[in-house]
Amino acid sequence: MRIDIISCVPNLLDSFFAHSILKRAQEGKYVEVVVHDLRDYSVNKHRSIDDYAFGGGAGMVLQIEPIAGCIRALQAERAYDEIIYLTPDGELMEQKMVNQLSLKGNLIMLCGHYKGVDQRVRDLFITKEISIGDYVLSGGELAAAVLADAIIRLLPGVLNDETSALTDSFQDNLLAPPVYSRPFDFEGNVVPEILLSGHEAKVEEWRYEQSIKRTKERRPDLLK
Ligand code: ADE
Repeated sequence: MRIDIISCVPNLLDSFFAHSILKRAQEGKYVEVVVHDLRDYSVNKHRSIDDYAFGGGAGMVLQIEPIAGCIRALQAERAYDEIIYLTPDGELMEQKMVNQLSLKGNLIMLCGHYKGVDQRVRDLFITKEISIGDYVLSGGELAAAVLADAIIRLLPGVLNDETSALTDSFQDNLLAPPVYSRPFDFEGNVVPEILLSGHEAKVEEWRYEQSIKRTKERRPDLLK
């Protein structure tokens, strides 16, 4: 998979992809993440990429020309399955959507800023608009990082334990059960005995029951 992220503050993203699982995923060639500076596609010598909104009002708008230039340059190199715009008025991100995107080959993620992008960018280039939650961030970079992270960890081979993504919260619409590690006894707080029984089927049953209990308590909406 290849993910191209278009941003006017690319430095925000560089360190995010340089650590831990995301770093290993790139080193292992499971994914290639390339961050593009929108200013490199500015059409003027000041490298500006935004302008006042027609009709007036507060806030600048990201202009279409640099964005069109960047997307077209990428499309000249390879075909893309989706061109995603991260925006608070997009479709709410959830696990099922992430699962589907993890099956794609090449993705572009466009990060908005200021008052957003010229509507014609959305009309002409964007194939999918995604929000990571009902709150407004100062830019789409964190949203793109969240989306890319959730996708990349699902790519086969990226997680050491192949099954661990399957037991995540939200796969099956259930929250994950509690987990414990050593010590067995921390200041009188002990690990549930069943987990030490060595009885695999019983442990699985206990985990499933815990998942249901937790989901009922915390996210009953998921069980409907
Ligand atoms: N840009 C600003 N806020 C956002 C959000 N909640 N989701 C996606 N992109 C955004």
